[in-house]
Amino acid sequence: MNTQTRKATALAFPNIALIKYWGNRDQSLRLPSNDSLSFNLGDLRTTTTVEFDPLLTRDEVSIDGYKVSAQAYERVAHHLDRLADYSDIAEIDCGERRDMSECRPRARVISNNTFPMGVGIASSASGFAALTLAACAALGIKKSESELSGLARLGSGSACRSVPGGFVAWHDGYAVSIAPPAHWPLMDVIAVVSRAHKAVGSTEGHAMADNSPLQAARLSDTQRRIRQCEEAIANTNFTLLAEVIEQDALLMHGVIMTSQPSVLYWEPATLSVMRAVRELREDGLPVAFSIDAGPNVHCICEAHALKQVKQAIRQIEGVLEVIESGVGGPATVIPHQS
Ligand code: DP6
Repeated sequence: MNTQTRKATALAFPNIALIKYWGNRDQSLRLPSNDSLSFNLGDLRTTTTVEFDPLLTRDEVSIDGYKVSAQAYERVAHHLDRLADYSDIAEIDCGERRDMSECRPRARVISNNTFPMGVGIASSASGFAALTLAACAALGIKKSESELSGLARLGSGSACRSVPGGFVAWHDGYAVSIAPPAHWPLMDVIAVVSRAHKAVGSTEGHAMADNSPLQAARLSDTQRRIRQCEEAIANTNFTLLAEVIEQDALLMHGVIMTSQPSVLYWEPATLSVMRAVRELREDGLPVAFSIDAGPNVHCICEAHALKQVKQAIRQIEGVLEVIESGVGGPATVIPHQS
């Protein structure tokens, strides 16, 4: 019996979507109904080590020192089955019928985040990006960045945008970088207004998107918003960026609120932060809001406005915590010290 372990560690950043992904044209392959744009959050990190160990009888998955829920465990294990299928290492060749869920070696997966979970930062994006890179490296699977992005997508859609660096565009199967982090030193000031676990997760939400009569309208206008956002990024035009990212977030929440069943993610403090952001902008500060599938508000601003934005947002009633991040690079495999 081969008892050799195969181990690798990878680092990935979460990302904030400027133009949101909401709804799939193929739910199981996570092929999105619309293109999206994001930037990586370089001050927030997920580090994941994957060690395939033939002596293990089942996978072991821990995040931030805790065993994960049964649902999260299944999602990780299924992703490892899929990735192992790309490996041609002899000991996991199961012959003609390669059923990886049966014959691959089990893995020890240890993942740690430098940011708290459940505060509106998509840990599934950085989590599946890091898991994909670490597992592929451990199994000796050599893939291009685009291919790795496509594989990460199968675990969590938005994870494909955490594989390339800086400002990133996701079209259909995978995502690519459209500008490096230094191109535009934007900051994300995340106003945490609730730490409660959200009642409806993104995966469930995507499946309901087509129930809303507004989704068709949202989709039919996506390419215009993508072009406007790409132009704003290319020319570092904050006024243009603010207009399009707020509209895009509101369109997504319009769909979410009018899906069946309807979901209301916002808390009273969500609206207070949105209003404050607009007032700050009217006063001349380059800041705009974006909101993912939850109540917390991402206040996107230019670096020189950071101090004032933080100061103003912290004072709002209902804001529990403020987390900040600049633009980050690509996901990477970290060499092990021997
Ligand atoms: C609102 O990528 O978390 O953050 O593929 O089911 O894991 P799954 O969904 P996920 O959806 C992200 C939704 C969003 C918008 C975005 O990031 O584009």
